[in-house]
Amino acid sequence: MILSVLLMAISLNVAQCRRLNDNDIDNEVSSNPAANLGYREHDDWVQISQPPVPVVNKKVGAHVELYCEAMGSPPPTIQWYKGNMRITENESFDTNVISRMPGLAKVSSRLVINYLLPRHQDFYRCVAESGRKVRTSTAKLNIVNKEGREMNFTQLISAKILGAHHLPRVTFWAQTYMDVIGTDVILPCRFVGNPKPNLIWIDPNGKVIENDDRFTVLPEGELRIRSILWSDMGGYTCAVENTLGEDSIETFLYPMQVNTYSIL
Ligand SMILES: *[C@@H]1O[C@H](CO)[C@@H](O)[C@H](O)[C@H]1NC(C)=O
Ligand SMILES: *[C@@H]1O[C@H](CO)[C@@H](O)[C@H](O)[C@H]1NC(C)=O
Repeated sequence: MILSVLLMAISLNVAQCRRLNDNDIDNEVSSNPAANLGYREHDDWVQISQPPVPVVNKKVGAHVELYCEAMGSPPPTIQWYKGNMRITENESFDTNVISRMPGLAKVSSRLVINYLLPRHQDFYRCVAESGRKVRTSTAKLNIVNKEGREMNFTQLISAKILGAHHLPRVTFWAQTYMDVIGTDVILPCRFVGNPKPNLIWIDPNGKVIENDDRFTVLPEGELRIRSILWSDMGGYTCAVENTLGEDSIETFLYPMQVNTYSIL
């Protein structure tokens, strides 16, 4: 955990260097209070810290997961494209709040295919976006024994492939989330599973989070924390469960002092 906070700090450092260079050629004055600390929109940055495995060879019927990880500020979103078609929901953070310094986060995304069919053979692109910056990385999924193995809708139903029950899997979450003390944060926890899993968030003390003035589990599963405090620091666990089993992830929340942000 400490290592990943360090990694984030190093990345922030890189962003700060770029910021200084930008300032050399651009002395624009902004009414954005965050600008006093050097933040402007073109300071957005994102990088793919772990790209998906570039080539995956699997058989018809296999369970496949493609994994992709990105770091950035503001906290990145990750979408998956199959060929040119976006296949994930638009996972967007609430970026309406522009009059503050953006947080930064390391986020993970899993693309889950429960039952591989010949039509799934394609290029899959992981697209990470932070504000106006975008990075992509592509994986090729090959189906090794696909001849004559395609199934139409009727066949998928009668073979009980469509509508089958599956273990829950968390598909989008932040491993680390850093933001300035006093801001509101939204920690994502997207998931799949059939029957639809139940979701809970557990705080750093091991207590199941009940909604109150500051902590709210939103309908899509995200945890919103209003006006974060230094004492909110720690690992928050999102756990999803259905009749077949469970899955969980942990997000380390790091509330920063404003001056930490400018010194790092
Ligand atoms: C996701 O949604 C946001 C806000 O609705 C939009 O600005 C952005 O372009 C969308 N991204 C993609 C990849 O569709
Ligand atoms: C699906 O495939 C089966 C077996 O090949 C065929 O009998 C059936 O007519 C097909 N159904 C549709 C809707 O195409």
